[in-house]
Amino acid sequence: MKKLFVLYRIIILAFIAVIFTGCVNNNAPNNNSTVTEIKIGVFLYTKDDTFISTLQSNLEKAARNKEISDGIKIVINSFDGKGSQTAQNEQIYKCLEQDYDVLCINLVDRTVAAPIIDKAKINNTPIVFFNREPVKEDLERWDRVYYVGAPASESGEMQGSIIVDMYNSGKYNIDKNGDGKLQYVMLEGEQGHQDSLLRTEYAIKTITNEGIQLDKLANESANWQRSQAASKISQCINTFGDDIEVILSNNDDMALGAIDAYKAEGIEKLPVIVGVDCTEPAVEELRSGNLAGTVFGDFKGQAQSIIDLSCALALGRNPENYVDLEDGRYVMHPYIAVTMDNLYKLELK
Ligand code: BGC
Ligand code: CA
Repeated sequence: MKKLFVLYRIIILAFIAVIFTGCVNNNAPNNNSTVTEIKIGVFLYTKDDTFISTLQSNLEKAARNKEISDGIKIVINSFDGKGSQTAQNEQIYKCLEQDYDVLCINLVDRTVAAPIIDKAKINNTPIVFFNREPVKEDLERWDRVYYVGAPASESGEMQGSIIVDMYNSGKYNIDKNGDGKLQYVMLEGEQGHQDSLLRTEYAIKTITNEGIQLDKLANESANWQRSQAASKISQCINTFGDDIEVILSNNDDMALGAIDAYKAEGIEKLPVIVGVDCTEPAVEELRSGNLAGTVFGDFKGQAQSIIDLSCALALGRNPENYVDLEDGRYVMHPYIAVTMDNLYKLELK
């Protein structure tokens, strides 16, 4: 009788264990080796942005490599927000109703992540934001939300250091009019973007902290766009002519726009122009001497982290084993200052 009772208890406990594991499986993905296909939705603020399209092609490459190394299939569907948060929200909400394992989101407006996170939480679909950083309070609304990007202030500091090094080396005649100050034009990206704000602030701080005096001729916003920067700089050329000694640009595309403007005016002696990103066309201008420097924003590393993080989340694995997390949810890739002196060291393909 006693033996029978023990047997009953074992059967009941086993039964409870089976039910319990079943529940866990339904609520969150387990460390499940049987999952062979991962479906990722990628939402871009616009495809019409050199850095973002470079990041996207690197995402594809990283996914293909991971398929081979991990023996899983990764399906990526990309959506173009075309600069409209309303359009992007519709795309995201539609995907939340489908069988996506993870959503990777490059917000149009980085201040409106909250409703998206709340909906994703109800559907238990994790999110990896990238490049356009939501505010911390929003990211903290749910623990299955991450951000992959780069420390924006660092890119400003490095851009400033390129100018400081050139000035201090004495090899370049940056201060063309010899008044002991650098007359400069600032080309800013979109207003409100963390990279515009911090790159502008830290580039200037870094230069002035070294005791170099700056004289601002103009502050122009060109929304990261080459053509907008070209027209802003041609206006500046008309107004300030040869007085412009330095152009600090929040990204490479706008720096290239500045170069376009000088070429269009037929001016051969360009001011010192610096950008950020290290895109392929920028490297070409660096080689030809029109661009003095840039700052490599690690699109390759960021793409790799987005894929690694997405796969870990989809498979219910601990993200900490796959990416370096800061504060439990940030993956930040360092920048590298690039000039002709160290370009050869970077393996840029
Ligand atoms: C890049 C810009 C890009 C922007 C888009 C920045 O980090 O430097 O080139 O246009 O992100 O959000
Ligand atoms: Ca000067």
